[in-house]
Formats: sequence, C-alpha cells, structure tokens
Amino acid sequence: MIAVAKNVVIKKPIPVIMDCDPGHDDAIALVLAYASPEIEILAVTTSAGNQTIDKTTLNARKVLSFLGSDVPVARGASKPLFRELIIAPQVHGESGLDGPTLPEPRLPESPLSAVELAAKTLRESDRPVTLVPTGALTNVAALLLAHPELKHKIERISLMGGSASGGNWTPAAEFNILVDPEAAHLVFNSGIPVTMCGLDVTHQALVTRADTERFRAIGKRCSTMVAELMDFFVKFHEANFSFGGSPLHDPCAVAWLIDPTIFTTRKAHVDVECRGRLTVGATVADFSGKSGPMNVDLVTGLDLERFIDLLDGALRRLD
Ligand code: BDR
Ligand code: CA
Repeated sequence: MIAVAKNVVIKKPIPVIMDCDPGHDDAIALVLAYASPEIEILAVTTSAGNQTIDKTTLNARKVLSFLGSDVPVARGASKPLFRELIIAPQVHGESGLDGPTLPEPRLPESPLSAVELAAKTLRESDRPVTLVPTGALTNVAALLLAHPELKHKIERISLMGGSASGGNWTPAAEFNILVDPEAAHLVFNSGIPVTMCGLDVTHQALVTRADTERFRAIGKRCSTMVAELMDFFVKFHEANFSFGGSPLHDPCAVAWLIDPTIFTTRKAHVDVECRGRLTVGATVADFSGKSGPMNVDLVTGLDLERFIDLLDGALRRLD
C-alpha cells in the first residue's frame, strides 16, 4: 500500500500466479483476474484435470490471447504425483472448453515448465506472490518440493478445491482434490496460509440463465465469450443437477482476493484424506482447532448479488 497524500491511499495490485485447467470456470477466473485492477497476473501455469494437459494448455493460451494478455504461460505436469489422471469431459466437453469458437492462440507456450516459470516468477518478484490454483494441486506441490527456498516468497494460496460438506465427484471428495490428493495434502500442510474456496461456497456462487443474458447484453467481445461459456456450463448443470444455476467455482478464488467482504470466511484446520477407500480426496475440516493449527481460511458463504456484480463490472472493463 502507498500513501500518496492525506486520506488518499493507493493499493498496489496483488501479484498472482494463476495455475489452472481451463475448463469453463477456470477461463472465467482468468477473465476476472485479467480485468480486475486489484490483481496483477505475473504468470499462468496449467494443470491436467478438466482435460489433458495438451488441451488445458491450449485453452489457457486461447483465452489469454483472446483477452489480449501478454503473460507467460507454461505447461504443468501431465499427471498427478502418484496416480493416474482423472478428466472431466462430461462437464467441460471434449476440448475442455466446449461452447465458444476461440481463434488459434497468439500467445506462445513458454519453453519453461510450470514449476520453472513459477520459481522464476517468485525469485524475480520484489513482493511475495499469491498462488491461485483452480485445478489439481500437482504443480504447486511440485514447486514446493523442488524449491523450498522460495516458500517465503509465497504470500498465500487462494484455491478452489475441497469441501467441508460432501463432495461432487464422490460423496466425500471434490474433483480438484480427488485428482491429486497427495499434492493437496502437501499444500495444505505446507505452512503457507490457504484460502479454501470449496463447494461450501461455490455451490452458492450460482449463475443463472438471466445472469448469462445480462453478461451477453454488455455486447462486447469478451462478455460474449463468457456468455457462450456459460451457455454450455448452464446446460450441463441444468441437465444433471437442481441447483437453480451453475456453480461458478473457480472465480471465487479470485473474487475472494479482490474483495473478501463479499464472502463469509472461517478459520479451520483442514487436512486431506489420501487413503480411505470411500473417502480418498476428502478435505476434513475442524473448526475447533483441536486437531491441529488453523491452517485454512475456509470460505463458507457469499453475497451472490455482489459476486455477480463483480463479474459484470469486470466484463464491462474489457473490449
Ligand atoms: C472444480 O472442478 C472442475 O471441473 C472445475 O473447473 C472446478 O475447478 C469443481 O469441483
Ligand atoms: Ca478448474
């Protein structure tokens, strides 16, 4: 924060590395971060999850090129630390980003790996950087294992993943944590402050057809792209769930950084189940603090109207 004159304070944007598997809601998280003056995207790394690493990397490059961003984009691990990859074509389509037709990307893929780019970005930053993972935590875990000396350069990890109230991929586990539970275990136990935007909050971040029409009515290139992403996403959720909208999971992890007052957040001790036959990938939350340190800011609720307004405002800033 810089004080420029009495009563006038200019906040520096929060430097972030986005680690994502686009994915409709990952793409919208990128849009929100890119369009928000509170956030400065230093780098984007990709994870395998919603689709294979080839597809999520191509999708990230397409979305960022469409936005007009020049940020470096690096490919992450093609599979979880110890397990075979699970993908979600039934949610995000064969491309991982079915719906809008996006042009071939102008942004190249970095010659560095995700871990190398993240490490370089942390090393070169004059301020601690916030990591925003919106997929499996494989790259973040690999970064912490390969570069423990850079841990102090990570301010916080604001992630989408987990749940304190049951899963979406199994009764116990949320998808991103289930894909790589060992990586999640390492990240949650790293000692770095974690903001967990899990299903507890994201199942309240519901975007309706009416919201989609509101975005489309903005009438710009980027708002149209987001509306087309939502058309696909809303159809999937209407056919398979009765939420009364589509949970826009991943943008929550960005929105919490932009304006945490939109959300309700509680301190908790959270650990990850890596072994249970029925419970692997579960995030076990203890709000009493009896089972360990309060390592997580667990996001439990949001003001939906303000969340939609935040997205709308971001889209209006883009062309
Ligand atoms: C998470 O899984 C993916 O399908 C979404 O992109 C989100 O990150 C929700 O469980
Ligand atoms: Ca995701």
